[in-house]
Amino acid sequence: MCGIIGYIGNKDTVSVLLDGLKKLEYRGYDSAGMAIVRGDRIIRKRVKGKITFLEKELKSSPIKGDYGVGHTRWATHGRPSEENAHPHQDCHGDIVVVHNGIIENYVSLKEKLANQGHTFKTETDTEVIPHLIEQHFKGNLEEAVRQAVREMEGAFAVAAVSAKDRGKIVVARQGPPAVIGIGRDEYFISSDINPLLSYTRDVVFLQDREIAVVRPDGVTFKTFSGRSVKKEIEHVAWNPVMIEKGGYKHFMLKEIFEQPQVIRDTFKGRMSLDTGSIYLDEMGIAENDIKRISRAVIIACGTSFHSGLVGKYFIETLARIPVDVEYASEYRYRDFIPDEKALYIFISQSGETADTLAALKAVKKKDLLTLALCNADSSSLTRESKGVLLTHAGPEIGVAATKTFSAQMSVLALFALYTAQIKGVLSREKSIAYIKELQRVPHKLEIILNAAEAVELLALDFLSYSHFLYLGRWVSYPIALEGALKLKEISYVHAEGYPGGEMKHGPIALIDEKMPTMVIAPKDRVFDKVLSNVFEVKARLGTVTAVAFRSDKEIAKSVDKVIRIPDIHELFSPFLTAVPMQLFAYYIAAARGADVDQPRNLAKSVTVE
Ligand code: M6R
Repeated sequence: MCGIIGYIGNKDTVSVLLDGLKKLEYRGYDSAGMAIVRGDRIIRKRVKGKITFLEKELKSSPIKGDYGVGHTRWATHGRPSEENAHPHQDCHGDIVVVHNGIIENYVSLKEKLANQGHTFKTETDTEVIPHLIEQHFKGNLEEAVRQAVREMEGAFAVAAVSAKDRGKIVVARQGPPAVIGIGRDEYFISSDINPLLSYTRDVVFLQDREIAVVRPDGVTFKTFSGRSVKKEIEHVAWNPVMIEKGGYKHFMLKEIFEQPQVIRDTFKGRMSLDTGSIYLDEMGIAENDIKRISRAVIIACGTSFHSGLVGKYFIETLARIPVDVEYASEYRYRDFIPDEKALYIFISQSGETADTLAALKAVKKKDLLTLALCNADSSSLTRESKGVLLTHAGPEIGVAATKTFSAQMSVLALFALYTAQIKGVLSREKSIAYIKELQRVPHKLEIILNAAEAVELLALDFLSYSHFLYLGRWVSYPIALEGALKLKEISYVHAEGYPGGEMKHGPIALIDEKMPTMVIAPKDRVFDKVLSNVFEVKARLGTVTAVAFRSDKEIAKSVDKVIRIPDIHELFSPFLTAVPMQLFAYYIAAARGADVDQPRNLAKSVTVE
């Protein structure tokens, strides 16, 4: 949600900020702006709409300056408009702020500041910040920011500049991420590492309740209470090429095609075919602690929730412990019953999803055992959790999660096998057989991806439909949910995901010739039941497309179209069935001219509630 960027150094500030904003745009894209300090003046440019509008505006009326801050917005308070776009300023335009997050007590702060004579021009919560800083400003920006943030409640990452205390950018964090890029005589501020990669891979992550003062000759850190902090510079492994489209029309398509490699990378060094062993030494949870768990609770949002559902089948089948899967947004407010014998697993691509983090904090408060499955090292989630398992998917830029879903399923399969081994519930032979099957997944995915054109042709036949039903049973049920989510979020076509068995309890009423059904139908233990669903749909004039095994001779006789996938062990079919669903959604959205990588109303990291 929202991206903040800052630069101080010898390069052209406007170009660096613009370049950074383009790389942060996936975090929010309803308006954008920047503020540049030039001499004793601050110049602001703001536009409604995407970064390209800001770029055009800067081309037609260029600005120059010594250093500055920029912002791309995902509106929470106040509609998307130029007036509500960041940066926001104080009464005299001397203090300017960009902000990611929500100031929960902004109404009372605004009232207080208005009584003190401040005038407000926008509908945003953010506008209170520069006024609050102005109220505390006595010549030292850092000190004023420090006083201000102590009065602010909620989640925020802010960067502030002042025309009256020049040569510095002050950054503060409480919640949403903020990272400082360390260059040679130049420094960068960003909401995530992507914009920094073309300039530096040396970074410092600001922790909660910390403030950084960034000057052309160095950075200093303090806590909100004013104590100096020494921080380590981290070197990030991601490189700039990872965030290029690499010849694909959209990041999403590129990321779909990266999945075989992502799964290989996530498995790498973590399994042995010879011994049948799984190695998760880096997890940070002792074997004995895993041995004593008798239950797992998986907590996540969106696509990560769906991978959690797949994980439930993996863990219950292989490790033989019960698993509950919960929406983080619900769990955080539940009077949940703490279970000391449970492992609480939090799944998140970004590691910054506000609901997932809040649920983790609630669980931690009860002193329970926590594990984070995450794609972002040094994220809030990985920092807060006792154990961590990283998914090695590399940066995911498309707002719709694809490769991180596969990476999450990969880690969950590893974790299930690992737990099974530690608990002694899986023989060496069986373990070897499962590992062998998992190792075949990337190649099988390559086969599916080589036939992507067939899915594209199929998608073109469905362009005129406005409603879809996705059905799956057992391990394919989460894939039905995920397929429907993908279609909804990028093509704005209504889709319902349902467990096949539930169809007769309601959704069947929707079926007619205008509502096509996508059936996830690998030849597994529930195949016959899925076939019954197919007949029920056909009897009501519905069109059925099935995702089915290559060897399945039966299905084609009963459905209208078939998407073929290689055969695989029934438990691991989600690795293969998910990908045609991603492709189908992608091709429909692309053909409808939708903004695939940046769908309307969405943002990549949902750092607000
Ligand atoms: O970063 P997270 O995995 O915690 O994000 C969770 C959801 O916001 C995310 O999966 C969202 O549903 C995506 N748009 C799905 O494609």
